[in-house]
Amino acid sequence: MRLTDNTILITGGGTGIGRGLARALHARGNKVIIAGLDLGELNVVVAGNPGMAAVKLDIRDAGEIQRVAKGLISQYPELNVLINNAGVMYRDDVAGPIDDGKVSDTINTNLIGSIRSTAALVEHLKTRPEAAIVYTSSTLGFIPISLFAVYSATKAALHSYAMSQRFQLRGTSVKVQEINPPYVGTRLGGGNPDDPRAMTVDDFVDELLPILGSDANEVIVKLAQQYREHTGPDEYKFVVAFNEVIKRVGPTNEPIAP
Ligand SMILES: NC(=O)c1ccc[n+]([C@@H]2O[C@H](COP(=O)([O-])OP(=O)(O)OC[C@H]3O[C@@H](n4cnc5c(N)ncnc54)[C@H](OP(=O)(O)O)[C@@H]3O)[C@@H](O)[C@H]2O)c1
Repeated sequence: MRLTDNTILITGGGTGIGRGLARALHARGNKVIIAGLDLGELNVVVAGNPGMAAVKLDIRDAGEIQRVAKGLISQYPELNVLINNAGVMYRDDVAGPIDDGKVSDTINTNLIGSIRSTAALVEHLKTRPEAAIVYTSSTLGFIPISLFAVYSATKAALHSYAMSQRFQLRGTSVKVQEINPPYVGTRLGGGNPDDPRAMTVDDFVDELLPILGSDANEVIVKLAQQYREHTGPDEYKFVVAFNEVIKRVGPTNEPIAP
């Protein structure tokens, strides 16, 4: 996608990676609208970035998605980019029974919420001369962490969905891109934004922007490359090596030797 002169809706734009993207794209002269569950939190970001706008949107709520999408199209007819970034992550252990509420919440947010948000805006996006739909999936969509099995599965599904949609939208004005972050310091899943093992949001956004601004279908920063490179017939060897390291040191970006 081009990095300037857009009107961009970012879900989950009030915190973490979404907030980092929102600030960086706002600074490049785009009109940025951030959406999320907590309007108070979103408004704090808007206050620090005059000209940005915020809207309350729970992407688990199909009716709210429709209402918000209609309102945005009428208020911002030039809206041409949707960044599906909102997500939740819960630890699980699929060696035994798992919490059904968390399973539903994860799938409804990460997968169905992104699909519905896109469906509500895609016809409008096709009317714009240059448009983009971006998904923040994850390296865990390529190589899962076994203790976040359902989360990893939603990201793998999102990756698959993005490829289908990219093919279906070929020849239109709408480009479909996927951002696949490695471990980035945010509060996702109760994480510690200052974990020294994680990439900082600022470093991540700095590295990702030129890739997002290119023709790349997938935005894979350096620390994410090993996960992308190990998909294929032998990927389970890498899955085992990766999960052994996670068991030993916790979340990490360290090199994995399968
Ligand atoms: N951090 C990482 O290491 C990492 C790695 C790979 C992929 N990702 C992906 O990056 C994206 C952003 O995550 P993050 O790391 O920046 O964590 P984050 O700060 O927790 O961001 C997640 C955002 O999603 C919003 N959200 C959650 N449920 C929502 C709902 N039902 N409707 C609307 N908004 C909702 C949250 O809003 P509230 O704060 O109001 O709940 C929050 O702003 C996620 O899709 C995540 O899966 C992160």
